[in-house]
Amino acid sequence: MFGTPPKWLAWTKTPDTFIHYLELLQDDTKMNIEIVNLTQENLIDAPEWFTHPFSCKYCTYWECLEERADPAAEEKSDMIRRKLEWLGRVRNEWGNCGKIAYWDGQPIGYAQYAPLRYLPRSVDYDSGPPSDDAVLISCLFIPQKQFRRLGIGNQLLRSIIDELKERHQEAVETFARKGNPDNPSGPVEFYLTNGFHIYRDDKEFPLMRLDL
Ligand SMILES: CC(C)(COP(=O)(O)OP(=O)(O)OC[C@H]1O[C@@H](n2cnc3c(N)ncnc32)[C@H](O)[C@@H]1OP(=O)(O)O)[C@@H](O)C(=O)NCCC(=O)NCCS
Repeated sequence: MFGTPPKWLAWTKTPDTFIHYLELLQDDTKMNIEIVNLTQENLIDAPEWFTHPFSCKYCTYWECLEERADPAAEEKSDMIRRKLEWLGRVRNEWGNCGKIAYWDGQPIGYAQYAPLRYLPRSVDYDSGPPSDDAVLISCLFIPQKQFRRLGIGNQLLRSIIDELKERHQEAVETFARKGNPDNPSGPVEFYLTNGFHIYRDDKEFPLMRLDL
């Protein structure tokens, strides 16, 4: 009867988010989102945060299974070199495997996806393994919370889905999380609203799937 409630209602949850949303409403040009493919050249732009491993550009959690004695003691140059090697190999053998989202030129979002053979960490998830016919979204991430719930995650995910459809991929899967919006690719609810279903259930990390 009353239609969909305005989005700002959700932002009244905390004063900070409400004020931030009002600022955005006052200047539409701030919503200038650009999503580009991830390359060896722009990996350096992947957004940063303040705890280890500080950015997706240093993180090889999905790509390398070997345990390191003290990951936090590693040199950033070694970490990014390992990531660049992985990125170069996957791009050469399989094609584009990631996206960066920029807001007015500022990198705020990161996504990474590939077939299972490039993401061996999948074996650690009880609801796995991902299907042979699927591309796995290993990471979808907007590190700074003030940029969340503005529809940018939706845009990132849509750009991945559109690309994978154009590349005639069969399906996309991800390990989403129940009861928590963090790690590894976001909450179950986000994927349900984007047409995914729970393909193999788990108490914490169900495998979710969308046929393309
Ligand atoms: C998953 C993620 C990218 C979603 O990005 P986002 O920009 O906040 O999502 P959107 O604003 O596009 O949300 C679209 C819809 O999904 C659903 N949704 C998104 N986040 C949700 C949450 N935390 N709880 C419930 N539903 C949620 C809602 O239906 C939302 O629509 P609404 O805001 O109009 O209600 C973001 O939550 C994130 O970065 N999470 C952390 C993931 C992580 O830790 N990755 C680490 C990799 S190492």
